[in-house]
Amino acid sequence: MRVIRAKDYLDASRKAANIISAQVILQPDSVLGLATGSSPIGIYQRLISWYEKGDIDFSQAKAINLDEYVGLSSIHNQSYAYYMRHNFFDHINIDIRNTFIPNGLDRNARRECSRYDKIIHDLGGVDLQLLGLGPNGHIGFNEPNEEFVKGTHCVELSQVTIDANARFFESKDQVPSKAYTMGIMDIVRARRVVMIVSGEKKAQAVLDSFCGPVTPKVPASILQLHGDFILVADEAALSLVGDKL
Ligand code: F6R
Repeated sequence: MRVIRAKDYLDASRKAANIISAQVILQPDSVLGLATGSSPIGIYQRLISWYEKGDIDFSQAKAINLDEYVGLSSIHNQSYAYYMRHNFFDHINIDIRNTFIPNGLDRNARRECSRYDKIIHDLGGVDLQLLGLGPNGHIGFNEPNEEFVKGTHCVELSQVTIDANARFFESKDQVPSKAYTMGIMDIVRARRVVMIVSGEKKAQAVLDSFCGPVTPKVPASILQLHGDFILVADEAALSLVGDKL
């Protein structure tokens, strides 16, 4: 793994956006695996501004998202489908028909997960997967577990994740308890994986994920084995790792 040290969140966002921009410039029809949450917002803002300046063209790119809450429609303002349109897709020239996200309204988990796995397969896999890091080491919504789950699946969100995501909802009991997420195999099969991590609150998760054993109890630890994994982290997120990375 490669570690790119950034001063702060803005610096980390710029550095990670540069990697994604280079990917799209070098391979305009790239399949981008995308994430939601707070961490990638700065990246999307930079990519939008470079698109507006004419530096990047997304017209041939494809995007597949990591996850979606079960029970929320794509027009619900806390759904990840809404987030992606609002924070990124509506501001660039990607063809919306080339963007994919699990359908939170299909309660038939088996049908929806196999539909999503087929989309990933038919796209030929992911060229660059962008990730954030959960405070408990989750990636996508692959929560700490006894085993790594390979393909797209339905998860019960852990209390840590519900608490962390409650900030986006009016109250904690409005946070959905289940989500569809790409599996660990879908993520590690991406040809390049870029993770952005910022802030002291993630420092323990960075230490556990990248300086400890590879274990499903810390899902992100699997990335230690990836051949092209780039961690872009700011000083606060790296504050506990010292010179271990
Ligand atoms: C989002 C996702 C999650 C987040 C993680 C960090 O699509 O898959 O794994 O990346 O929960 O969230 P933030 O960035 O809000 O701290």
